[in-house]
Amino acid sequence: MTKSKIIVAIDGYSSCGKSTIAKALAKYAGYTYVDTGAMYRAVALYALRNNLQSSLFNLQSSISNIEISFALQPDGTQHTILNGEDVESQIRTLEVGNMASQISPIREVREFLVAQQQAMGKNKGIVMDGRDIGTVVFPNAELKLFLTASPEVRAQRRYDELVGKGEHPVFAEVLADVNDRDYRDTHRAESPLRQADDAVVIDNSNLTPDEQMKKIIDIFNSKI
Ligand code: DC
Repeated sequence: MTKSKIIVAIDGYSSCGKSTIAKALAKYAGYTYVDTGAMYRAVALYALRNNLQSSLFNLQSSISNIEISFALQPDGTQHTILNGEDVESQIRTLEVGNMASQISPIREVREFLVAQQQAMGKNKGIVMDGRDIGTVVFPNAELKLFLTASPEVRAQRRYDELVGKGEHPVFAEVLADVNDRDYRDTHRAESPLRQADDAVVIDNSNLTPDEQMKKIIDIFNSKI
């Protein structure tokens, strides 16, 4: 008997490993993975390149000129494509991340991207991660996961990541940044980050990646 495909919505705070888990689960299930944060980052890059950041109105009126897609690479990873150009590395900078955080509260931007995300899930068999997937994009998703970890644990992970890149971060500043992003994500007027009532909450503060993955695969298998 073939198992029916479902939609898996993964939401949660920044730096709690959503994309790692979402990618691994998609691979396990043979599903498509969609990183919605990359879509907000692509709009941010477009805004920066076209000097639209100072004018909300200009970004709203040129939104229909933006085309975003994903291209599967031979090594199995996905690259973000903006108007035909592979922008995967350009969207991962701090500058684009900060701009994404500024443009993501704009209603027209959200409506534009949410419609595309919903179309991507039309045939199910998808794992999508973001901030509003279980609440706004797919309120009827068969499986909703809400990932969390303490701010200190997330700050430590980011700190280690930055040190690994050769940077010299100050832990207190990294922690303050995590707390600021949490505040912005949960307090914006448009689609604030919140846990869907029917989401399974996973606090991974004290879980190893393997323990977390095993837990999530068990939950997934119980749903299909
Ligand atoms: O997860 P990320 O850091 O790549 O997300 C980039 C920005 O986009 C971040 O400010 C949160 C925002 N975002 C959002 O508002 N809704 C989503 N579904 C995904 C990301």
